[in-house]
Amino acid sequence: MTKELLLLGILLLYSSVEAKNLLEEIKSWPNLSQVAAIIEKDLVLPQQMQMLGFTAFIPTNEAMDKYDGPKNGNLIRYHMANIPFKAQHLPDEINTELSGNPRLYVTRLPSGRASITGWEDFNYFINNAKITSANHKAMADQGPEQVLHIVDQVIVPTIAKSLPSGPGAAAYLNPDARKLLEKPNLYGLVDLDSITDFERRVSELNLLDVFNMSGKNTFFIPINQALNTIQHEQDLIDKQVVHGHIVPGKVLFTRTIQSSTDQSESLAFTDNLKVFISMENVTSPNDQDMAYYVKSNTVAGDISHDKGTVIARVVRGNIPVKNGVVHLIDRPLMVVASNIVSYLQEENGQLSQFHQLMREHYADLTHSLVVDQDLTVFAPSNEAFKMVNKKSLNEIILNKEKLGKLLKLHIIRRRLTTDEIVDRSVTKIFQEETMSNSRKLYFAVNQPNGVVPIISLEGGGVNATITTPDIAAKNGVIHIINRILGIPSQTVYEKLSTDPMLSATYNLSTQEGWNERLNERKEKFTLFVPSNDAWDLIHRTLPSAFKKLFMGEFPYHVRYILERHMIVGQDWSLEELAALTTNSTPRTAVPGERLQMTRGKIYFQARVKPRAGEYYIEWNGIQAKVIRPDVECVNGVVHVVDKVLMMNRDVTVAGGAGTTVPGLATLLSTMITVAFARALHH
Ligand SMILES: *[C@@H]1O[C@H](CO)[C@@H](O)[C@H](O)[C@H]1NC(C)=O
Ligand SMILES: *[C@@H]1O[C@H](CO)[C@@H](O)[C@H](O)[C@H]1NC(C)=O
Ligand SMILES: *[C@@H]1O[C@H](CO)[C@@H](O)[C@H](O)[C@H]1NC(C)=O
Repeated sequence: MTKELLLLGILLLYSSVEAKNLLEEIKSWPNLSQVAAIIEKDLVLPQQMQMLGFTAFIPTNEAMDKYDGPKNGNLIRYHMANIPFKAQHLPDEINTELSGNPRLYVTRLPSGRASITGWEDFNYFINNAKITSANHKAMADQGPEQVLHIVDQVIVPTIAKSLPSGPGAAAYLNPDARKLLEKPNLYGLVDLDSITDFERRVSELNLLDVFNMSGKNTFFIPINQALNTIQHEQDLIDKQVVHGHIVPGKVLFTRTIQSSTDQSESLAFTDNLKVFISMENVTSPNDQDMAYYVKSNTVAGDISHDKGTVIARVVRGNIPVKNGVVHLIDRPLMVVASNIVSYLQEENGQLSQFHQLMREHYADLTHSLVVDQDLTVFAPSNEAFKMVNKKSLNEIILNKEKLGKLLKLHIIRRRLTTDEIVDRSVTKIFQEETMSNSRKLYFAVNQPNGVVPIISLEGGGVNATITTPDIAAKNGVIHIINRILGIPSQTVYEKLSTDPMLSATYNLSTQEGWNERLNERKEKFTLFVPSNDAWDLIHRTLPSAFKKLFMGEFPYHVRYILERHMIVGQDWSLEELAALTTNSTPRTAVPGERLQMTRGKIYFQARVKPRAGEYYIEWNGIQAKVIRPDVECVNGVVHVVDKVLMMNRDVTVAGGAGTTVPGLATLLSTMITVAFARALHH
C-alpha cells in the first residue's frame, strides 16, 4: 500500500517536473515550427507563455505556407485566448489577445465519428479553420493551465493598416461590418475588392445602422464590379435588397456550410417579402479550389422584388468583424438584372463548360440566350461534364446538327419555375417540349414529408436532378442540373432497373433471367414498356392473371407478353416508327401499320388529326398510348406506354409448355377459348 502511494507520488512529481509550458509544447511539434519561430522572436509572447493560462489555436507549417499575409506576433495573438478551454468546452465566441480583443467564432458540427477522448464526435471550426488535433495540455510555470489545439488554416484577422486619429479610433481595432464598409481602404479592401459603391448606396438609403447591429450576423457585400452590372439601375438596390444581404443572428463561415438546402432567413423577411439565404460549395473546373456561392431565394415577392433565386460567387470570404462575418460577392443578391448568358459565362463559374460548348461550337444559340425572352435553361454543371461518356460527347461535338439537338434539348421556350413543375406533377407526369425538334422533358417530383422537393427530369434517356433551382435572369430561368441530357450511358436493362416508373415491368422481366439479354451492349432493342400504372390497370381488370404473372410461377407467359412489346435488331425512335408506318397515306384513324415484334405483330399508329403528335400501339383492340417516348439507352430505345398489350387468355392459353397443371376450370375455359379463336379464324 505505502509502496504504491510512494510510486504514485514519484509519478506525480515526475510529471509536474516534466510539464511543458505552451511554447515548449508547440516546439515539440515539428509541423508547428514556423509558429514556434515567430513566437520566439516576439518581445512578450515567450514570457506570457511561461506565466499565463491560454487556449492557443496553432496553424501547421503547411497552413502557414499557404498564407501570404504578415506573419508576426499579432497574427499569433489572434490565435490565442487567455482562458484555457478544451475543444469540447469552447464557448461560441472567444476573445483573443490581439489589441481590441476581436473575437473568434466557434462552430461545432457533428463529425460522424465516435468520441474517443471527449472531442472527436464533433468537428470544431474556429472562424474558418478546423481543429485537426485537440486538447494538448501544457502548463505555465506558476500553474495556470494551457491548451494547444492544432488547426489546418491560418485564422486571418481583420487588422487596420493604420488607425484614424481622434476619439473613437479604438473602434477600428475591432471593426464591425459598418466600420469595414465605411473605411474599406483601411482593411485592404481596394481594387477588385473595393466596396465603395455599395457603401454609397447604403448611406443614401440611410441604412448604415444595420451594419453595426450587435450580435453575430453574416453580411454579404457586393464589390464595385458587381454593381457595375446594374449601372443605370442603382435604385434596384433599395432598403429591402440591402436587408436581403444580411443573415441576422448567425455567423456562416464558408467551411461550416453543410448543405446547400440549409436556408436562413435574411433580414428581408416580412409578411409580404420573404427572402432566404443559403450557401453552397462547388469544386471549380481546375479541381483545385473550392468555390463558394451564396443564393438569395425570394419565395414571396412584391411589386418591386421578383420571386426566384439569384446566385453570386463569394470573391473574398470569411472576413471576421465584431458583429459577425463579411463575405464579398460578385453580384447583388435579390436583383434580377442579368441575362441568362451572363450567368453561364461567369469566369470559373460552375456552368463554364456548358457555356464553352455553346460558345465555341454553336454560337447562334448563345446569341438567342441573350436576345430571346422567356426561356428556361436546364444547365448541366461542370460536375455533370465529369459524369458523361467523353467519347460520345466528342462525337456529338464534331457533328453540328447533333450538337444543336443536344444543346436545345436543355432549353424550353417559356419560363418554367419549379413551383409550376411541382404543381403540375401532382396527378400525372408533367412534360414539356424543348427547342430540340419537339423532343420533350419529363419531370418527376419527390417530396418526402413536405421538405424541399427534389425534382428530376428525363431528357433523351438521361435522368438528371435539379441541384440549384430557379435562378432568375432578366430573360428567363436557369435550373442547374447534375447530368447532361441526351447522352445516355445506361443499357435498356439498366434503365428498367433504375427508373421508378418502370419497376413493375422490370420485376417481371427478371423472371428466369429473361431480361439479361437487355444488357447486351452490341444488340439493339426497341421496347415498349408498360408503366407501373399500366400494370395497375391489369391488377384491377384482370386480377387473377395479374397475380399469376407476378407470383413468378408463369415465367413462360410473362416472356410471351413482354416479347410482344419488343423488337430486336432495331432501335427505332418514335419519329422513325412514324416514318415507317405513315409513308403511305396520312390517316386520321386506325388501323396504322403493322410492326413485326419478337412475338407476333402489333399495329403502330401515329395520330395525325385531331390529336396530332399522339402515338399508339394496338393489339387485339387494346390501344396503348405512348406516354414517354424515346428514352434512349446505349443499346436501344424505350417507349413507355400506358397499357399492357395482353388479355386474360395470355395466361391461360399461351402457356402450352405447361409448367403447371391447370385446374379443371382453366382447362375447360382454355378449350373453349381455343375453339372460339379457331372459329374466328375460319
Ligand atoms: C450604430 O452606430 C451609430 C453611429 O455610430 C449609432 O448611433 C447607433 O446607435 C449604432 N447602432 C447600433 C444598433 O449599435
Ligand atoms: C462541399 O463541401 C463538403 C464538406 O467539405 C464536401 O463534403 C462536399 O463534397 C463539397 N461539395 C462539392 C460539390 O464539392
Ligand atoms: C418490384 O420489386 C421490388 C423488390 O421486390 C419491390 O420493392 C417493388 O415494389 C416492386 N415494384 C412493383 C411495381 O411491383
